[in-house]
Amino acid sequence: QAFFKPISRADPPSPTKRHTKISVVGAGNVGMAIAQTILTQDVADELVIVDVNPNKLRGEMLDLQHAAAFLPRTKIMASVDYAVTVGSDLCIVTAGARQNPGESRLNLLQRNVSLFRNIIPPLVKYSPDTILLIVSNPVDVLTYVAWKLSGLPSNRVIGSGTNLDSSRFRFLIADHLDVNAQDVQAYIVGEHGDSSVALWSSISVGGVPVLNFLEKQQIAYEKETLENIHKAVVESAYEVISLKGYTSWAIGYSAANLARSILRDQRKIHPVSVLAKGFYGVEGGDVFLSLPAQLGRGGVLGVANIHLTDEEAQRLRDSANTILEVQAQLNL
Ligand code: NAD
Ligand code: LAC
Repeated sequence: QAFFKPISRADPPSPTKRHTKISVVGAGNVGMAIAQTILTQDVADELVIVDVNPNKLRGEMLDLQHAAAFLPRTKIMASVDYAVTVGSDLCIVTAGARQNPGESRLNLLQRNVSLFRNIIPPLVKYSPDTILLIVSNPVDVLTYVAWKLSGLPSNRVIGSGTNLDSSRFRFLIADHLDVNAQDVQAYIVGEHGDSSVALWSSISVGGVPVLNFLEKQQIAYEKETLENIHKAVVESAYEVISLKGYTSWAIGYSAANLARSILRDQRKIHPVSVLAKGFYGVEGGDVFLSLPAQLGRGGVLGVANIHLTDEEAQRLRDSANTILEVQAQLNL
Protein backbone atom coordinates (compact mmCIF):
# COMPACT_ATOMS: atom_id res chain seq x y z
CA GLN A 1 0.00 0.00 0.00
CA ALA A 2 1.55 3.32 -1.10
CA PHE A 3 1.61 6.13 1.43
CA PHE A 4 0.06 8.51 -1.11
CA LYS A 5 -2.89 7.60 -3.27
CA PRO A 6 -1.82 8.68 -6.80
CA ILE A 7 -3.93 11.32 -8.55
CA SER A 8 -5.55 10.17 -11.76
CA ARG A 9 -3.93 11.78 -14.79
CA ALA A 10 -3.95 11.17 -18.51
CA ASP A 11 -0.24 11.91 -19.16
CA PRO A 12 2.62 10.04 -17.48
CA PRO A 13 4.43 12.04 -14.76
CA SER A 14 7.58 13.65 -16.11
CA PRO A 15 10.57 14.75 -14.06
CA THR A 16 10.73 18.53 -13.67
CA LYS A 17 14.50 18.61 -14.04
CA ARG A 18 17.30 16.35 -15.19
CA HIS A 19 18.37 13.73 -12.65
CA THR A 20 21.96 14.31 -11.51
CA LYS A 21 24.31 11.83 -9.88
CA ILE A 22 27.68 12.54 -8.28
CA SER A 23 30.14 9.90 -7.07
CA VAL A 24 32.91 10.73 -4.62
CA VAL A 25 35.81 8.28 -4.37
CA GLY A 26 37.62 8.43 -1.02
CA ALA A 27 35.70 8.83 2.24
CA GLY A 28 38.53 10.58 4.08
CA ASN A 29 38.72 14.16 5.35
CA VAL A 30 38.51 15.64 1.87
CA GLY A 31 35.93 13.30 0.35
CA MET A 32 33.57 13.78 3.27
CA ALA A 33 34.00 17.58 3.33
CA ILE A 34 33.13 17.62 -0.39
CA ALA A 35 30.18 15.24 0.10
CA GLN A 36 28.67 17.26 2.91
CA THR A 37 29.09 20.58 1.06
CA ILE A 38 27.50 19.12 -2.07
CA LEU A 39 24.51 18.03 0.04
CA THR A 40 23.97 21.54 1.39
CA GLN A 41 24.05 23.02 -2.13
CA ASP A 42 21.28 20.95 -3.69
CA VAL A 43 23.29 20.03 -6.81
CA ALA A 44 22.75 16.26 -6.84
CA ASP A 45 19.73 13.95 -6.74
CA GLU A 46 22.03 11.03 -5.92
CA LEU A 47 25.33 11.09 -4.07
CA VAL A 48 27.50 7.99 -3.97
CA ILE A 49 30.60 7.47 -1.85
CA VAL A 50 33.20 4.77 -2.63
CA ASP A 51 36.18 3.76 -0.50
CA VAL A 52 38.18 0.62 0.30
CA ASN A 53 37.17 0.73 3.98
CA PRO A 54 33.59 -0.67 4.29
CA ASN A 55 33.06 0.24 7.97
CA LYS A 56 34.17 3.83 7.50
CA LEU A 57 31.96 4.03 4.40
CA ARG A 58 28.84 2.75 6.12
CA GLY A 59 29.45 4.97 9.14
CA GLU A 60 29.85 8.07 6.98
CA MET A 61 26.81 7.17 4.85
CA LEU A 62 24.54 6.68 7.89
CA ASP A 63 25.79 9.87 9.54
CA LEU A 64 24.96 11.90 6.42
CA GLN A 65 21.61 10.13 5.90
CA HIS A 66 20.65 11.07 9.48
CA ALA A 67 20.77 14.75 8.44
CA ALA A 68 17.98 14.19 5.90
CA ALA A 69 15.47 16.34 7.78
CA PHE A 70 17.72 19.40 7.44
CA LEU A 71 18.90 19.03 3.84
CA PRO A 72 17.55 19.15 0.28
CA ARG A 73 16.43 15.64 -0.72
CA THR A 74 19.35 13.56 -2.02
CA LYS A 75 19.63 9.80 -2.18
CA ILE A 76 22.90 8.82 -0.46
CA MET A 77 24.57 5.48 -1.15
CA ALA A 78 27.98 4.01 -0.32
CA SER A 79 29.82 0.88 -1.40
CA VAL A 80 33.25 -0.60 -1.99
CA ASP A 81 31.86 -1.86 -5.33
CA TYR A 82 32.10 0.60 -8.24
CA ALA A 83 28.84 -0.75 -9.69
CA VAL A 84 27.12 1.70 -7.31
CA THR A 85 28.55 4.60 -9.35
CA VAL A 86 26.78 3.56 -12.57
CA GLY A 87 25.50 6.49 -14.64
CA SER A 88 27.31 9.23 -12.69
CA ASP A 89 27.35 12.69 -14.29
CA LEU A 90 30.36 13.69 -12.22
CA CYS A 91 32.98 11.55 -10.45
CA ILE A 92 35.15 13.31 -7.89
CA VAL A 93 38.36 11.49 -6.93
CA THR A 94 39.83 12.28 -3.50
CA ALA A 95 41.29 8.87 -2.60
CA GLY A 96 44.90 8.51 -1.72
CA ALA A 97 47.82 9.39 0.45
CA ARG A 98 48.07 12.90 1.86
CA GLN A 99 51.08 14.95 2.93
CA ASN A 100 52.76 14.57 6.28
CA PRO A 101 53.68 17.93 7.89
CA GLY A 102 56.37 19.60 5.74
CA GLU A 103 56.04 17.09 2.88
CA SER A 104 55.42 18.46 -0.65
CA ARG A 105 52.42 17.42 -2.76
CA LEU A 106 54.68 16.11 -5.55
CA ASN A 107 56.13 13.58 -3.10
CA LEU A 108 52.80 11.67 -3.10
CA LEU A 109 52.94 10.88 -6.79
CA GLN A 110 54.03 7.22 -6.98
CA ARG A 111 51.69 6.08 -4.18
CA ASN A 112 48.68 7.77 -5.73
CA VAL A 113 49.36 6.76 -9.33
CA SER A 114 49.14 3.10 -8.24
CA LEU A 115 45.75 3.74 -6.63
CA PHE A 116 44.51 5.55 -9.74
CA ARG A 117 45.07 2.38 -11.81
CA ASN A 118 42.38 0.71 -9.65
CA ILE A 119 40.05 3.71 -9.49
CA ILE A 120 39.81 5.41 -12.89
CA PRO A 121 39.07 2.39 -15.18
CA PRO A 122 36.02 1.15 -13.17
CA LEU A 123 34.65 4.69 -12.86
CA VAL A 124 34.73 5.12 -16.65
CA LYS A 125 33.44 1.59 -17.24
CA TYR A 126 30.27 2.32 -15.24
CA SER A 127 29.91 5.97 -16.36
CA PRO A 128 31.34 6.40 -19.87
CA ASP A 129 29.70 9.84 -20.19
CA THR A 130 30.99 11.15 -16.88
CA ILE A 131 33.08 14.21 -16.18
CA LEU A 132 36.05 13.47 -13.88
CA LEU A 133 37.07 15.99 -11.23
CA ILE A 134 40.40 15.06 -9.68
CA VAL A 135 41.32 16.33 -6.22
CA SER A 136 43.97 13.85 -4.93
CA ASN A 137 47.50 15.23 -4.91
CA PRO A 138 49.64 16.08 -6.74
CA VAL A 139 46.47 17.16 -8.48
CA ASP A 140 47.90 18.43 -11.79
CA VAL A 141 49.95 15.31 -12.53
CA LEU A 142 47.14 13.03 -11.33
CA THR A 143 44.68 14.83 -13.62
CA TYR A 144 47.02 13.99 -16.51
CA VAL A 145 47.21 10.38 -15.24
CA ALA A 146 43.40 10.22 -15.01
CA TRP A 147 43.10 11.57 -18.56
CA LYS A 148 45.49 8.90 -19.85
CA LEU A 149 43.91 6.03 -17.88
CA SER A 150 40.33 7.06 -18.71
CA GLY A 151 40.58 7.58 -22.47
CA LEU A 152 38.06 10.44 -22.03
CA PRO A 153 38.29 13.61 -24.10
CA SER A 154 40.32 16.27 -22.28
CA ASN A 155 37.32 18.60 -21.84
CA ARG A 156 35.83 15.99 -19.48
CA VAL A 157 38.89 15.60 -17.22
CA ILE A 158 39.40 18.49 -14.80
CA GLY A 159 41.64 18.98 -11.76
CA SER A 160 40.43 21.09 -8.84
CA GLY A 161 43.74 22.93 -9.30
CA THR A 162 44.10 26.49 -8.09
CA ASN A 163 40.39 27.16 -7.55
CA LEU A 164 41.35 26.66 -3.89
CA ASP A 165 44.60 28.70 -4.02
CA SER A 166 42.63 31.53 -5.71
CA SER A 167 40.11 31.54 -2.85
CA ARG A 168 43.00 31.74 -0.36
CA PHE A 169 44.45 34.60 -2.46
CA ARG A 170 41.11 36.46 -2.57
CA PHE A 171 40.72 36.01 1.19
CA LEU A 172 44.17 37.48 1.89
CA ILE A 173 43.70 40.42 -0.51
CA ALA A 174 40.24 41.11 0.94
CA ASP A 175 41.69 40.99 4.44
CA HIS A 176 44.48 43.39 3.42
CA LEU A 177 42.07 45.88 1.79
CA ASP A 178 39.20 45.31 4.26
CA VAL A 179 36.68 44.35 1.54
CA ASN A 180 34.51 41.30 0.84
CA ALA A 181 36.44 38.40 -0.77
CA GLN A 182 33.52 37.87 -3.17
CA ASP A 183 34.18 41.37 -4.58
CA VAL A 184 37.82 40.52 -5.26
CA GLN A 185 38.49 39.05 -8.68
CA ALA A 186 41.93 37.46 -8.62
CA TYR A 187 43.51 34.36 -10.04
CA ILE A 188 46.31 32.07 -9.09
CA VAL A 189 47.22 29.86 -12.07
CA GLY A 190 49.78 27.13 -12.84
CA GLU A 191 50.60 24.28 -10.48
CA HIS A 192 48.40 23.73 -7.41
CA GLY A 193 51.39 23.93 -5.17
CA ASP A 194 54.78 25.46 -4.77
CA SER A 195 55.26 26.86 -8.32
CA SER A 196 51.81 28.50 -8.59
CA VAL A 197 51.62 31.92 -10.27
CA ALA A 198 49.74 34.96 -8.92
CA LEU A 199 48.25 37.14 -11.67
CA TRP A 200 48.64 40.53 -10.00
CA SER A 201 48.07 42.44 -13.23
CA SER A 202 44.46 41.24 -13.51
CA ILE A 203 43.24 41.78 -9.94
CA SER A 204 40.18 43.93 -9.57
CA VAL A 205 37.99 44.88 -6.64
CA GLY A 206 34.40 45.82 -7.46
CA GLY A 207 35.47 46.14 -11.12
CA VAL A 208 38.41 48.50 -10.37
CA PRO A 209 41.80 47.14 -11.57
CA VAL A 210 43.92 47.36 -8.42
CA LEU A 211 47.50 47.86 -9.69
CA ASN A 212 46.34 50.24 -12.40
CA PHE A 213 44.40 52.27 -9.79
CA LEU A 214 47.41 52.50 -7.44
CA GLU A 215 49.69 53.59 -10.30
CA LYS A 216 47.24 56.25 -11.57
CA GLN A 217 46.79 57.63 -8.05
CA GLN A 218 50.57 57.53 -7.66
CA ILE A 219 50.13 55.43 -4.53
CA ALA A 220 53.36 53.55 -3.90
CA TYR A 221 52.98 49.83 -3.38
CA GLU A 222 55.69 47.49 -2.35
CA LYS A 223 56.36 44.61 -4.71
CA GLU A 224 57.49 42.81 -1.60
CA THR A 225 54.02 43.12 -0.04
CA LEU A 226 52.54 41.45 -3.14
CA GLU A 227 55.15 38.70 -3.07
CA ASN A 228 54.44 38.13 0.62
CA ILE A 229 50.73 37.67 -0.03
CA HIS A 230 51.48 35.08 -2.72
CA LYS A 231 53.98 33.39 -0.41
CA ALA A 232 51.28 33.19 2.26
CA VAL A 233 48.98 31.46 -0.27
CA VAL A 234 51.68 28.88 -1.08
CA GLU A 235 52.33 28.30 2.62
CA SER A 236 48.62 28.09 3.57
CA ALA A 237 48.24 24.34 3.19
CA TYR A 238 51.57 23.62 4.92
CA GLU A 239 50.45 25.72 7.89
CA VAL A 240 47.01 24.08 8.16
CA ILE A 241 48.55 20.59 7.81
CA SER A 242 51.11 21.34 10.54
CA LEU A 243 48.29 22.57 12.81
CA LYS A 244 45.42 20.12 12.22
CA GLY A 245 47.03 17.33 10.16
CA TYR A 246 45.12 17.85 6.89
CA THR A 247 43.07 20.45 4.99
CA SER A 248 39.39 19.82 4.35
CA TRP A 249 36.79 22.60 4.64
CA ALA A 250 38.15 24.94 1.98
CA ILE A 251 38.67 22.14 -0.57
CA GLY A 252 35.16 20.91 0.30
CA TYR A 253 33.65 24.26 -0.70
CA SER A 254 35.98 24.61 -3.68
CA ALA A 255 35.03 21.23 -5.19
CA ALA A 256 31.31 21.68 -4.46
CA ASN A 257 31.52 25.08 -6.16
CA LEU A 258 33.03 23.39 -9.24
CA ALA A 259 30.38 20.63 -9.16
CA ARG A 260 27.66 23.26 -9.17
CA SER A 261 29.17 25.19 -12.12
CA ILE A 262 29.51 21.98 -14.12
CA LEU A 263 26.20 20.26 -13.39
CA ARG A 264 24.06 23.40 -13.37
CA ASP A 265 25.79 24.59 -16.57
CA GLN A 266 26.79 27.90 -14.93
CA ARG A 267 29.43 28.75 -17.55
CA LYS A 268 31.47 30.44 -14.82
CA ILE A 269 35.21 30.98 -15.08
CA HIS A 270 37.27 28.98 -12.57
CA PRO A 271 41.03 28.54 -12.35
CA VAL A 272 41.18 24.74 -12.70
CA SER A 273 43.61 22.22 -14.06
CA VAL A 274 43.02 21.63 -17.76
CA LEU A 275 45.06 20.36 -20.69
CA ALA A 276 47.13 23.53 -21.12
CA LYS A 277 49.18 22.78 -24.22
CA GLY A 278 48.82 25.63 -26.70
CA PHE A 279 47.41 28.19 -24.24
CA TYR A 280 49.46 31.13 -22.91
CA GLY A 281 52.58 29.87 -24.68
CA VAL A 282 52.62 26.54 -22.79
CA GLU A 283 54.37 24.06 -25.07
CA GLY A 284 56.65 21.06 -24.66
CA GLY A 285 54.14 18.30 -23.95
CA ASP A 286 50.71 17.36 -22.66
CA VAL A 287 50.51 19.07 -19.30
CA PHE A 288 47.58 19.80 -17.04
CA LEU A 289 47.77 22.97 -14.97
CA SER A 290 45.36 25.64 -13.86
CA LEU A 291 44.16 28.29 -16.28
CA PRO A 292 41.01 30.41 -16.06
CA ALA A 293 38.55 27.99 -17.69
CA GLN A 294 34.85 28.31 -18.43
CA LEU A 295 32.95 25.34 -16.96
CA GLY A 296 29.53 23.97 -17.85
CA ARG A 297 27.60 20.77 -18.50
CA GLY A 298 30.09 19.85 -21.24
CA GLY A 299 33.02 20.16 -18.82
CA VAL A 300 35.69 22.62 -19.96
CA LEU A 301 34.04 24.93 -22.50
CA GLY A 302 37.01 27.24 -23.13
CA VAL A 303 39.97 29.07 -21.63
CA ALA A 304 39.73 32.81 -20.95
CA ASN A 305 42.31 34.98 -22.61
CA ILE A 306 43.49 37.11 -19.69
CA HIS A 307 46.33 39.54 -20.33
CA LEU A 308 49.52 38.36 -18.61
CA THR A 309 52.63 40.46 -18.14
CA ASP A 310 55.83 38.98 -19.62
CA GLU A 311 56.95 38.03 -16.11
CA GLU A 312 53.65 36.27 -15.34
CA ALA A 313 53.74 34.39 -18.66
CA GLN A 314 57.33 33.27 -17.96
CA ARG A 315 56.40 32.08 -14.46
CA LEU A 316 53.49 30.11 -15.93
CA ARG A 317 55.80 28.39 -18.42
CA ASP A 318 58.24 27.63 -15.58
CA SER A 319 55.38 26.10 -13.59
CA ALA A 320 54.43 23.96 -16.62
CA ASN A 321 58.05 22.78 -16.89
CA THR A 322 58.11 21.84 -13.19
CA ILE A 323 55.05 19.59 -13.74
CA LEU A 324 56.44 18.18 -17.00
CA GLU A 325 59.68 17.20 -15.25
CA VAL A 326 57.69 15.22 -12.66
CA GLN A 327 55.53 13.69 -15.38
CA ALA A 328 58.63 12.50 -17.23
CA GLN A 329 59.27 10.06 -14.33
CA LEU A 330 55.90 8.36 -14.90
CA ASN A 331 55.59 5.01 -16.57
CA LEU A 332 51.92 4.75 -17.55
P1 NAD B 1 42.52 10.66 4.08
O1 NAD B 1 43.64 9.80 4.47
O2 NAD B 1 41.66 11.27 5.16
O3 NAD B 1 41.53 9.88 3.09
C1 NAD B 1 41.94 9.13 2.01
C2 NAD B 1 40.89 8.07 1.78
O4 NAD B 1 41.20 7.37 0.57
C3 NAD B 1 40.78 7.04 2.91
O5 NAD B 1 39.45 6.97 3.38
C4 NAD B 1 41.20 5.73 2.22
O6 NAD B 1 40.54 4.59 2.74
C5 NAD B 1 40.80 6.03 0.78
N1 NAD B 1 41.45 5.17 -0.20
C6 NAD B 1 42.73 4.72 -0.24
N2 NAD B 1 42.92 3.93 -1.31
C7 NAD B 1 41.74 3.87 -1.97
C8 NAD B 1 41.31 3.21 -3.15
N3 NAD B 1 42.15 2.46 -3.89
N4 NAD B 1 40.04 3.37 -3.52
C9 NAD B 1 39.18 4.13 -2.80
N5 NAD B 1 39.53 4.77 -1.67
C10 NAD B 1 40.80 4.63 -1.27
O7 NAD B 1 43.14 11.82 3.16
P2 NAD B 1 42.46 13.23 2.84
O8 NAD B 1 42.88 14.23 3.86
O9 NAD B 1 41.01 13.03 2.57
O10 NAD B 1 43.23 13.61 1.47
C11 NAD B 1 42.95 12.90 0.29
C12 NAD B 1 43.75 13.44 -0.88
O11 NAD B 1 43.30 14.76 -1.21
C13 NAD B 1 45.26 13.58 -0.62
O12 NAD B 1 45.97 13.18 -1.76
C14 NAD B 1 45.43 15.06 -0.36
O13 NAD B 1 46.73 15.51 -0.61
C15 NAD B 1 44.43 15.60 -1.36
N6 NAD B 1 44.02 17.00 -1.16
C16 NAD B 1 43.92 17.75 -2.29
C17 NAD B 1 43.51 19.07 -2.19
C18 NAD B 1 43.45 19.91 -3.43
O14 NAD B 1 43.26 21.13 -3.34
N7 NAD B 1 43.60 19.34 -4.60
C19 NAD B 1 43.19 19.62 -0.94
C20 NAD B 1 43.28 18.80 0.18
C21 NAD B 1 43.72 17.49 0.06
C1 LAC C 1 45.60 22.05 -0.05
C2 LAC C 1 46.00 20.64 -0.34
C3 LAC C 1 46.87 20.04 0.70
O1 LAC C 1 44.81 22.27 0.90
O2 LAC C 1 46.52 20.50 -1.61
O3 LAC C 1 46.12 22.96 -0.71
